[in-house]
Amino acid sequence: MALALFACTPKATKSAEGTPKKAESSAVNTPTDAQLTAAKTRFPDVTMEKLKEGHTIYFNGACVNCHGAQPIGNWDEKQWVGILDNMAVKAQLSAVDKDAVWKYIMSVKLASK
Ligand code: HEC
Repeated sequence: MALALFACTPKATKSAEGTPKKAESSAVNTPTDAQLTAAKTRFPDVTMEKLKEGHTIYFNGACVNCHGAQPIGNWDEKQWVGILDNMAVKAQLSAVDKDAVWKYIMSVKLASK
């Protein structure tokens, strides 16, 4: 049943040909306490639940319908703003889901500084 949820999404395999995308190693990890602490410096109200929601969408949800999970560190914050605006439309994220993904991405970046 879960598959049917994503069945209508167009595939983008052509653009990925020759450069298979692999999920970064953190794919299997749920957000860490360090990420939560780092994220709170930017988003004081953020919760672990919110980061987990974003993490799940990023690695197991709408963000991997067309390509593998992208390495977050490849783009800086400014680039990510544009990328996520673009990808949230492709992934048909609700505003709430987009917010969760954004906070998750930023938690990764802030914790790696
Ligand atoms: C409907 C298919 C589709 C979905 C869903 C999708 N993407 Fe993409 N993504 C693409 C395509 C196609 C590209 C290649 C660049 C382009 O066309 O903009 C891409 C490229 C990217 C890139 C590389 C950007 C660059 O400038 O090189 C990142 C990062 C990315 N996607 C992240 C995400 C995230 C995060 C989500 C979930 C919010 C997501 N994608 C959902 C199709 C998709």
